[in-house]
Amino acid sequence: MDGGDSAYYREGAEGGVAMKHDKGQFDSVQSRHLRSCESPLDEWKAEPVVLVIFGGAGDLGKRMLLPTLLTLYREKKLTADSYILGAGRRAMSDEQYRGLVRQSLERFGAEAVEGDEIERFCRRVSYLEADVRSEETYKQLCRRIAQISSQGRVEELIYYLAVPPSLIEPIVEGLFGRELCAGSLEPKVVVEKPFGSDKASASRLNELILKHLEESQVYRIDHYLGKETVQNILFFRFGNSIFEPLWNRRYIDHVQITVAEDIGIESRGEFYDAAGVVRDIVQNHIMQLIGFVAMEPPSGFEANLVRDEKVKVFRAIRPMSDEHIDEFMVRGQYGPGAIGGSAVCGYREEQNVAGGSNTPTFFAGEFFIDNWRWAGVPFYVRTGKRLSRRVTEICVVFKQPPLRLLGRTCDIIEANSLVFSIQPTEEMSLQLNVKKPGGGNEPHAINMNFDYAKSFEVKTRPAYERLLLDCLKGDLTLFARSDEVEAMWEVVDPIVSRWESVAARDFPNYDGGSDGPAESRALMEADGRAWRSI
Ligand code: BG6
Repeated sequence: MDGGDSAYYREGAEGGVAMKHDKGQFDSVQSRHLRSCESPLDEWKAEPVVLVIFGGAGDLGKRMLLPTLLTLYREKKLTADSYILGAGRRAMSDEQYRGLVRQSLERFGAEAVEGDEIERFCRRVSYLEADVRSEETYKQLCRRIAQISSQGRVEELIYYLAVPPSLIEPIVEGLFGRELCAGSLEPKVVVEKPFGSDKASASRLNELILKHLEESQVYRIDHYLGKETVQNILFFRFGNSIFEPLWNRRYIDHVQITVAEDIGIESRGEFYDAAGVVRDIVQNHIMQLIGFVAMEPPSGFEANLVRDEKVKVFRAIRPMSDEHIDEFMVRGQYGPGAIGGSAVCGYREEQNVAGGSNTPTFFAGEFFIDNWRWAGVPFYVRTGKRLSRRVTEICVVFKQPPLRLLGRTCDIIEANSLVFSIQPTEEMSLQLNVKKPGGGNEPHAINMNFDYAKSFEVKTRPAYERLLLDCLKGDLTLFARSDEVEAMWEVVDPIVSRWESVAARDFPNYDGGSDGPAESRALMEADGRAWRSI
């Protein structure tokens, strides 16, 4: 039924939603999903957890995970009797590890931590020196978990794999392959991105993990999905009926997605030089943004329903031939330059990067989603390191109105656009045209703005807090499913292999602090369009 004048909604007698048909009868539409507004997760109660962090002394652990866990501990979402076991290569005593945890909490943790909160938290932390390829490590780990469990109630066991992709397989094998650690608890496993380095390795990893665990135990993390502003894309689309009818090829001219960073590769030369921008950002963060903008409305806000719709989008992205890649994809690598008045070195001068490296640090490209909704609508994407500014945004550009009606001055009219600013500002703005006051027919572009900070006057929860909390609750909606990561790899694999097999002749081809290589602008100009300024 198509809505329209003859249909309306009301609360059904049993709290469901009822729909009036023309005949004047009410049909109860007590869909399981409509009722799921009252999700069982809302009644979730924190239980004691043992959380084992592989890579617990690494950069991610220190900067993100430990401070996030402290916040959850302070909010009592991580119970006071939970336990954190950091595991890492370095030889360290429990006391030394606690010292490191203390330091990172003081440096990266929330402000205004009260009294002895850090001390109490640190008492719930210890360390295991781990050689992930040695059986002995897992035997010791199990002894430690058994010991912790014998001292109090443990309801949940989580293994967080904050390690480089090459260590995931040995850890999964070590933990589950030889059944050294059979306990009564069904563990959850959190795996950091990138999940594999191409579709084949991601499938192997999925196969290995799913040999031992159910899909519902696996949390493939992409921190972009934890960002409030990214989740808002779904709320905006599916919580406002006025835009959905316009959300298709009839009204949308194109979509632009920008993930620009001013930072370089920092101390991650070894990882980055092997990965490059496509594996680091396009395969995961950018694909997820495309997924949220382009997916069909799921029939409920449940993990598998949402993930089903995203997978359909990734599978509908037009496969790319070498010719298409050469014509519609741009790669770049930064040379020396200046950002905010300070000189920055070129990529090839960074630590642990090969002198003549062919690794791209910039990507721009045009994707097409070959389905009924999006046929013919280009999705332009660009991302890069050492650009002029840090900005992540999605701009949905609508088609031009018919121009003649308002006279010749309207040749200069700007098409409506809707911008989701994901960071650093957390905003949405809708650009509209109004009449400029005066005698003429002059249109003037204005913005209608929504700003998270102004409207809610609270800081949005950092992405890792949301995702760790969801993992504790057992909510998989914001984590990637096995078929989803594989479908995302399938989109980008041809780009990576083309660029790895044919070296770039012009690298470095953009200055640090610029907006990327000239070819990126040319890509848009060839279609008579332009990027928004960074
Ligand atoms: C990570 C990438 O996933 O995301 C980094 O590995 C990148 O290279 C980072 O800097 C960007 O995250 P954010 O949240 O700052 O946009």
